[in-house]
Parts: sequence; C-alpha cells; structure tokens
Amino acid sequence: MDPSNKTILITGGAGFIGSNFLNYVYKKYPDCKIILLDALTYAGNLDNVIDEAKNDPRFRFYHGNITHADIVTELVKQSDIVVHFAAESHVTRSIYDNTIFFETDVLGTHAIANAVVKHPVDLFVHISSSEVYGTAEGDVMDENHPLNPMSPYAAAKAGADRLVYSYIQTYDIPAIIVRPFNNYGPCQHIEKAIPNFIVSALMDQPVTIHGQGQSSRDWLFVQDTCEALDRILNIGPEKLAGQTVNLGTGVDTSVAEIAKRLLKIMNKPADLATFIEDRPGQVARHTSSIDKAADLLQWKATTSLDEGLAQTVQFYDQNRQWWEKYLWMKQLWGP
Ligand SMILES: NC(=O)c1ccc[n+]([C@@H]2O[C@H](COP(=O)([O-])OP(=O)(O)OC[C@H]3O[C@@H](n4cnc5c(N)ncnc54)[C@H](O)[C@@H]3O)[C@@H](O)[C@H]2O)c1
Repeated sequence: MDPSNKTILITGGAGFIGSNFLNYVYKKYPDCKIILLDALTYAGNLDNVIDEAKNDPRFRFYHGNITHADIVTELVKQSDIVVHFAAESHVTRSIYDNTIFFETDVLGTHAIANAVVKHPVDLFVHISSSEVYGTAEGDVMDENHPLNPMSPYAAAKAGADRLVYSYIQTYDIPAIIVRPFNNYGPCQHIEKAIPNFIVSALMDQPVTIHGQGQSSRDWLFVQDTCEALDRILNIGPEKLAGQTVNLGTGVDTSVAEIAKRLLKIMNKPADLATFIEDRPGQVARHTSSIDKAADLLQWKATTSLDEGLAQTVQFYDQNRQWWEKYLWMKQLWGP
C-alpha cells in the first residue's frame, strides 16, 4: 500500500506515541492528509504536534471523545487508514480509579471498530499493548503467549485487543493488532517511569524506584515504534489484515538498571536512586519475541538503549517548560 496520498485518522495523536507518529508521518509523506481525533485529557497536549503540521491545511484536529459514535463514524468515513492510539494508558492510575479505562479503552475501541464496519477503510491499525500478556511465562513472549492481564489497565487493553480480533473474525475488517512493549522517548508524560526518573534527577530530587527495581521490561525507543508502524502502512492489508504483531527489542532491562544508566548519562550521583514500597498489579518480566515482526514487517529496532535514553534525557533537559506544568500532578501519583 502507498500511504503517501491517503487520509490517515490518528486517534490519541496528541499523546506520547501518537504525536511522535503523527509528526513522523507528516514529515515523511508531504501529500497525505492527517485527521487527529483527541479528547485532550491530562495526557494529551497539542504542543506535541509540530507547528508546521498544525498550520498546514492537510492537517485537521477534532477535539472529541472516541466513545462518541457519531464523531468517530463521521471521521472514519472520511479516512482511508485508521491508526488508533487513544487510550487511558497509565497502569498505576488504573489501580485507583479504573472506570474510565474500560470506557475509553474498550468502549472507545468498540465505537471505532463499529465505524470501520460501517465505512470500510484500507487498513485499521489497532494499538494494543504487551501488558495484555502479564508476566512472561518463558524467556521471551511471542504473539501466542497467553493473555493474563495483571492490572485494570491491562485488562481494558486485553478487552479492546480481543474486541478487534472478534471483529476481524466476524466482520472481516482489515485490522492489524499491534502490541508494543514499553515505549520511551520525547513527549512522554512525566507520570511514566523513565520521564519521572529524568525530571526528578534534573531537579536533583530522589529518583524513586518501586520495590527493589528488579521488575524488568523490554524498552523500545518511540522512533523505532514509528518506523515499525510506517512499515505496516507500506506493507498494507493484503499481507497484514488479521495479524497480531509484537513490537519490542528482544532484550529486557530492570527498572533499577534504567535508573542507574540515566543517572550516569546525566552525570548525577548514583545515590539519588531511592527504593520505596512496591505497587500491586505490576508485571515482573517482559521480553518480546522479535521473530514475527522481523518476518512480517522486515523490521527490527535499531536504537540502542543508551542512545535512546540519551536522546530522551536531552529532550527533557531542553524542554523544561514542556514538563514543568505537570509537576503539580506528581502529588497525585506519589513519589
Ligand atoms: N507508552 C507505552 O509504553 C505503551 C506501550 C504499549 C502500548 N501503548 C498503547 O499505545 C497507545 C498510546 O500510548 P501513549 O503512551 O502515547 O498514551 P498517552 O496517555 O500519552 O496518550 C493518550 C492520548 O489519548 C487521548 N485520549 C485519552 N482518552 C481519550 C478519549 N476518550 N477520546 C479521545 N482521545 C483520548 C489523550 O488525550 C492522549 O492524547 C495507547 O493505546 C497505549 O495503551 C503504550
């Protein structure tokens, strides 16, 4: 498929991964049209979308909720490709107040999938999550790993993931289910672990790590995710409709090791790292199998962890006004 002159509907494109992807697509395809649908929750920020795109007539922004079937249906009708990122995305928040996770992640996906049934598109890319798997049963998790969601967030994402699967089976929609592992990079909300560590260290405050920091994740730099999604748009539905694919690096690194590396990159004292009580609902270890992505997409992550962390540190260091406005929220999610 050639995405260069298509109309692409991006839901949640004012958030972290969605905005990185929107900016990527905007720059790479000068003739494509982009429709952004975003409710601008606490996690959405239009500053994440480059000004060049916002000032371009081939970009349109709709401030709306994905659970509203009428808006979604109208926008899907105008689109050739749907890339669906919008979600409540924070595991810890879902432990304390989870209704909105099921409303947005499950019912929002339901509205989008229904719209795709009503107004067929070339390709519907559903962004699921590695969290649907729960803790890895073996060394690496492939796409057939059992789904054992361990937090309400993960359960909501698993519900959406299986909803899309059922629509592929029942209505034959041209959807691909993408399960990214832990993304990090510029424009990620500071409630998430890596940006939280970075901004704490930039302020010379303790870098607080839950438990012993031994829980381990497959950390994927967001630019690599954008490249994988771009491969998906180019390969298109003939080969990809009905598929489920992981996006990860195949390597896992503990949270404590991430904090250590960040402090080293930032030239901060190692003893800023402080261990505090653990949280429930956390996955112990996550490592992606990379075989299917290599085979299906001819894609492999290329950014090393140190390089990705250094680029991420640079973003937060050079864009203090971007994150300082969120600092008051730190009290909402604790140290
Ligand atoms: N960040 C990760 O490490 C990661 C890993 C795997 C999967 N994912 C998935 O990728 C997607 C994007 O994640 P992210 O980290 O960029 O999330 P994010 O929280 O940074 O952004 C979510 C965006 O969705 C918007 N949104 C929320 N509710 C909405 C609603 N009801 N209607 C319209 N817009 C709404 C927000 O305003 C925000 O712009 C999510 O589906 C998430 O589950 C994320």
